[in-house]
Amino acid sequence: MQYRKLGKWGVKVSEIALGSWLTYGGSVDEKASLNQLQHALDCGINFIDTANVYAHGDAEVVVGKAIKSLRRDAVFLATKVYFPMADGPNDRGLSRKHIFEQCHASLKRLNVDYIDLYQCHRYDAETPVFEVVRAMDDLARQGKILYWGVSEWQAAQIEEAVNVANAINALPPVSNQPCYNILQRGIEREVIPTSARLGLGQVVFSPLAQGVLTGKYKAGQPFPEGSRAADNRVNMFMVGNNLTSNEVLEQVQKLHGIARELDVSMAQLALAWILRLKEVSSVICGATRIEQIDDNVQASGMVLPESIINKIDEIVTVSARR
Ligand SMILES: NC(=O)c1ccc[n+]([C@@H]2O[C@H](COP(=O)([O-])OP(=O)(O)OC[C@H]3O[C@@H](n4cnc5c(N)ncnc54)[C@H](OP(=O)(O)O)[C@@H]3O)[C@@H](O)[C@H]2O)c1
Repeated sequence: MQYRKLGKWGVKVSEIALGSWLTYGGSVDEKASLNQLQHALDCGINFIDTANVYAHGDAEVVVGKAIKSLRRDAVFLATKVYFPMADGPNDRGLSRKHIFEQCHASLKRLNVDYIDLYQCHRYDAETPVFEVVRAMDDLARQGKILYWGVSEWQAAQIEEAVNVANAINALPPVSNQPCYNILQRGIEREVIPTSARLGLGQVVFSPLAQGVLTGKYKAGQPFPEGSRAADNRVNMFMVGNNLTSNEVLEQVQKLHGIARELDVSMAQLALAWILRLKEVSSVICGATRIEQIDDNVQASGMVLPESIINKIDEIVTVSARR
């Protein structure tokens, strides 16, 4: 496993990270979840991503159990705040009140003394950025979080947060967590260059387009049993954007041809393609089986020739919606 700096900051994260959305505390049972998390760390993955809202807190509980049996300092543990955790008016968003209360709740569920990276899961148009920056800086000064980041923020929103932090001598956001993969490239034009200029690293999610970029889904054929797309409990974010449209799946099959030529798996090609960018600090993969982790970690350190990157650009003419 190779490691990269988180943007301009000193800490190093594994090129391949492991996430917990829809899987741990959810579709994957606890024993298998704990095995996979342990295995990921054995493979050199040091970056684990979760969120308060995943399985309504249960993902954090499972991740916390896995970390308990490990050296805490060997793990870079990320979680998030923003989405509703209850029905009250203050049970959501990025107010100082909700950030503090959810940070304390996450520390309890994770059963740790501090969070390495605390992320604003979305931008909150109802809360001044000053309030968010001050709350995050105070948590950092209290030792409850080490760094903070954002997720799916636009370039101008990221820039505002960094400017406010600099103006009040507070810790600025160190990372952005956007959706990014061969089929969904919306961050290339503004978010990546702005973040790079301001020192934030990208820690990208759904790098395999939720499994579509593994080549397991074939145009005109039923979704394979046991896959995310076939599971009505967890496929709501795949159905509805055109990730599994025949047009997209036919392109993926052409990409699969390139992977075969290179003698790598389709997943490895998709992950190495993202890691071609130095602005990306880590790709956060999900997994439901240990074999998937074994497959994905092999993308670390893989360098794709320019000619392959150009070929991929020629093939992918239809993007999926974000
Ligand atoms: N910030 C945000 O708003 C946000 C949003 C989404 C995700 N995230 C984070 O990003 C993480 C990853 O997102 P994601 O789960 O959508 O990522 P992904 O890596 O694109 O998709 C993961 C899914 O693809 C399948 N898969 C993975 N590796 C495979 C392989 N080598 N071969 C075959 N199938 C494979 C598995 O599903 P099946 O086995 O079920 O098919 C797995 O659960 C999440 O866990 C979460 O931590 C953040």
